[in-house]
Amino acid sequence: MSPARNGKPTLAVVGATGAVGTVMLDLLSTREDVWGEIRLVASARSAGKKLVVRGEEVEVVALSPECFDGVDVAMFDVPDEVSKEWAPIAVERGAIAVDNSGAFRMDADVPLVVPEVNPAAARRRPRGIISNPNCTTLSMIVAMGALHAEYNLQALVVASYQAASGAGQPGIDALREQISKVAGSDTLGTQPGDVRRAIGELGPFPAPLALNVVPWAGSLKEDGWSSEELKVRNESRKILGLPDLRVSATCVRVPVITTHSLAVHATFEREVTVDRAQAILRDAPGVVLVDDPANGEFPTPADVVGTDPTWVGRVRRAIDDPHSLDLFLCGDNLRKGAALNTAQIAELLAEELAEG
Ligand SMILES: NC(=O)c1ccc[n+]([C@@H]2O[C@H](COP(=O)([O-])OP(=O)(O)OC[C@H]3O[C@@H](n4cnc5c(N)ncnc54)[C@H](OP(=O)(O)O)[C@@H]3O)[C@@H](O)[C@H]2O)c1
Repeated sequence: MSPARNGKPTLAVVGATGAVGTVMLDLLSTREDVWGEIRLVASARSAGKKLVVRGEEVEVVALSPECFDGVDVAMFDVPDEVSKEWAPIAVERGAIAVDNSGAFRMDADVPLVVPEVNPAAARRRPRGIISNPNCTTLSMIVAMGALHAEYNLQALVVASYQAASGAGQPGIDALREQISKVAGSDTLGTQPGDVRRAIGELGPFPAPLALNVVPWAGSLKEDGWSSEELKVRNESRKILGLPDLRVSATCVRVPVITTHSLAVHATFEREVTVDRAQAILRDAPGVVLVDDPANGEFPTPADVVGTDPTWVGRVRRAIDDPHSLDLFLCGDNLRKGAALNTAQIAELLAEELAEG
């Protein structure tokens, strides 16, 4: 471990130029400043580019083994294959790696950490790597963790409504371009295929996203499940420490720039009441309850984007099962769903390093 500079640890942000990296720089500029030097790293394409963090311009350096020299904590906001190769190199050079990609999440020797739910897991990291969960799981897990602590979770049935930025900057660019191609038309969306023809190039999505919903996110896995759906199942189990939790997810992409939403049907060991569930959610750190449908009040991505908490509304007890709750959640996939949770994990590490 390198000696901390000015008494404060050195941080590297790998992937500083991406969709998650951009939000990370904003968070590092606005949260309590626990860092000494902050080093910005991306591909050779971005080397020399200047980005602003903490009000100062910092030059981006190309990823190399040397860029981790003297680094205490290295965050990785890069594609899976880049993390897979480079997080172990950062560790060899003396850093603790906090990885936002899917490369290590299910590795038994890599903790999967949500600071509001399982902060102690961050201290047991045999490979020197800590993983940040997938954005869809993160958009619900803080609220589900709070309810689980009271009621003992048994099963989850989830439908997601995922934003374009979940597919990174290319996803944002594609949706904006598609919207500009369909804007102003008073006929599109009335005939099979008319939106598809108007849009042409689909970008990272398998079907038009503007004026549409797409029941697909990620890659095809066994038995017709998508990788995103399996992540919701496997990561929820790991974070909550419930290896037998029953989880069925259907992941759907919707024409929203940023903020994932989820409709969740959660079944518990104990009977639930709406009043108590609302009280638990109201008191849970990192959760905001907005649940007054009589006055049109519930979370929507357009109102939640750019904010930190998990927003919950539409809390109902299942009509046919007193052990089940139905609720609707929204969380900014680039903040709590990615950069914020990583920043919180890194702050736990900064605290640990300060303890000596
Ligand atoms: N978007 C989300 O909602 C979300 C949520 C949770 C987790 N994640 C995960 O976070 C990671 C980053 O996602 P993103 O959405 O920010 O992607 P993105 O917008 O495509 O950004 C990718 C970043 O990785 C860098 N990069 C790519 N290849 C590289 C290489 N060979 N060497 C060094 N740097 C390289 C890029 O640098 P250049 O600009 O130089 O190319 C850029 O900074 C992914 O693993 C993703 O799965 C994303």
